[in-house]
Amino acid sequence: MHIDRNEKIYLIGSIILLVVFALAIFISGFAYGIQVPLPEAQVNPNTVATPGASPWGAPAEERVRELAPGKYEAYILAQTWVFSPATVTIPAGSEVTFYLTSKDVQHGFILQGTNINMMVLPGQVSKLTATFNNPGEYFFICHEYCGVGHQTMYGRLIVE
Ligand code: CUA
Repeated sequence: MHIDRNEKIYLIGSIILLVVFALAIFISGFAYGIQVPLPEAQVNPNTVATPGASPWGAPAEERVRELAPGKYEAYILAQTWVFSPATVTIPAGSEVTFYLTSKDVQHGFILQGTNINMMVLPGQVSKLTATFNNPGEYFFICHEYCGVGHQTMYGRLIVE
């Protein structure tokens, strides 16, 4: 079979590119440990908001806790069409780890001014951490369509 010289160059070039891309994936995935984030944990969406059944069963005002000076954790429950707690207040300079889950349908959580952007799925726990050095008000909104009230689903993080 005759293959034109130019065609051969393009064929070989394409194969080299595929090998380079495959190597890049393997090296970043296994040598540098860059992996797709997995759910932090599994929970039962039917009982997750039951008092005592999980951290999300605690009253909303008790779900933002200071673990150590300047280190906070926030357990936020997403449901149609509210976040609870809807207002989180922390002092400037704090590091906050957010744990989110949903008790009904798929929601989203994107926090203004940070790279926090995650899906919130019933039965799964999504976790991300950020540090807040600048005082101000940061909105978090649901950015996964979750029904007729989706556009009203938001909350505020206040950095004092
Ligand atoms: Cu919750 Cu959109």
